[in-house]
Amino acid sequence: MLKTNMKFFIHTFGCQMNVYDSDYITQCLLNMGWQRSGSAEEADLVVVNTCTVRAKPEQKASTLIGRLSKLKKKRPEMILGVVGCLAQEKGEALMERFPSLDFVMGPRQIAEIKETVSKILETRDRLLALQLDHAPPEPEHCPGYFEGRVTAFVSIMQGCNNFCSYCIVPYVRGREVSRPPHEIIKEIKEVIHQGVKEVTLLGQNVNSYLWVTDKDKWDFPRLIQEVGRLEGLLRLRFTTSHPKDLSDSLISCFVQVEPLCPHIHLPFQAGSNKVLKLMKRGYTREHYLGLVKKLRQVRPDIAITSDVMVGFPGEGRDDFQKTMDLIREAGFDGLFSFKYSDREGTLAASMGPKVPEEEKAERLSILQEYQKEMTFKKHKEMVGDVVSVLVEGPSKRPGQFMGRTPTNKIVNFPLDNGMIGHEVKVKIVRANRNSLVGQPVKERGLN
Ligand code: SAH
Ligand code: SF4
Ligand code: F3S
Repeated sequence: MLKTNMKFFIHTFGCQMNVYDSDYITQCLLNMGWQRSGSAEEADLVVVNTCTVRAKPEQKASTLIGRLSKLKKKRPEMILGVVGCLAQEKGEALMERFPSLDFVMGPRQIAEIKETVSKILETRDRLLALQLDHAPPEPEHCPGYFEGRVTAFVSIMQGCNNFCSYCIVPYVRGREVSRPPHEIIKEIKEVIHQGVKEVTLLGQNVNSYLWVTDKDKWDFPRLIQEVGRLEGLLRLRFTTSHPKDLSDSLISCFVQVEPLCPHIHLPFQAGSNKVLKLMKRGYTREHYLGLVKKLRQVRPDIAITSDVMVGFPGEGRDDFQKTMDLIREAGFDGLFSFKYSDREGTLAASMGPKVPEEEKAERLSILQEYQKEMTFKKHKEMVGDVVSVLVEGPSKRPGQFMGRTPTNKIVNFPLDNGMIGHEVKVKIVRANRNSLVGQPVKERGLN
């Protein structure tokens, strides 16, 4: 018999996919009658949802698992599990390294969380579940779970087929599988019903979304158009787009689909064609810059953010200069930048010559210094503008609220209660480096 008065705690590392998966696990456990715990110390079940995209998140997850293993020595009845991408990569090794782990489960197996936990409670066996060829699990809803939330992620596909030479994701998330469109739409209707106003569609490469049956074909632009028609949805976003698959019909969605926000996250990774080729990205810098131009022609107010890495094997100083040139030319609103890190089993891990760590650190700091000023400049240019902000909740400052512009910039402003989940007009009065300060100009916004 399954106990129902148990408490659980989930720690999530990594990207939005992991956030979505942790929500999935949480809903399954709540449906079993379990409750959330405020801390690992008080929980009967502790789950670590891991990331392994670079060395740093891997180290962070390992450190936490080590700490929790010590906690378990004091409380042997506690169940300790590891899920996510590091779990998939290092499953057996994790079991060996941390003998107190009760289960390790890959991203395609989380639908079995209930059975796994029940079995462990019954038998105290240690369980390892790493199959990748499963169809991705359909979400299990917990009634009212999204109540009080303004934004939600909805996964439209799992896995990746691109095998960029540096990237471990295809190995740990498996092959690309798109979800049936009616399931996606059902899930979005469900979260809207619970009060969510903004949905972000998730996939490693949403542009290659494809659902084909004998009678029907859905590509990503069609999905965006259909989702954009759903009643009650104020804002729609998606991430991540791959530049090699960004079609004209998707670009025109930024004009045709009203709730689609004018923001695109379009990782470029490197500015030198030589490095892009070694990375197996499938496009050139010219193609990338052409896309930026097209996006701005079609939607002049669009914000463009990106991912870039420095120190890929064989990246010379001249290649790095090309990355800096591209950044200058593109004028990104924001940039996530990383030092290249070898991932076991990927093509790039066996490529040379490796760039020394100090050199990578120097390149990263030059790049980040430039982008910091660029982001600040873009923020300063907005002072005086009146923008529409979707109020997400209280900000850290007492009496203040926070929300985002359609271009995904964070704004803090004073407001009366009761406007959470509404769009309000806010005048930008000050620019900070990471956010904006505003003043509402009307009591009630667009709705
Ligand atoms: N699917 C997304 C990226 C997912 S990984 C895309 O294709 O755009 C998120 C980011 O981590 C990547 O965009 C890349 O910039 C970075 N990254 C991936 N592997 C890396 C590695 N081995 N070293 C450093 N950064 C890496
Ligand atoms: Fe990794 Fe490339 Fe797939 Fe993105 S598209 S997840 S970078 S292999
Ligand atoms: Fe990390 Fe896995 Fe996401 S490796 S970035 S959590 S897909």
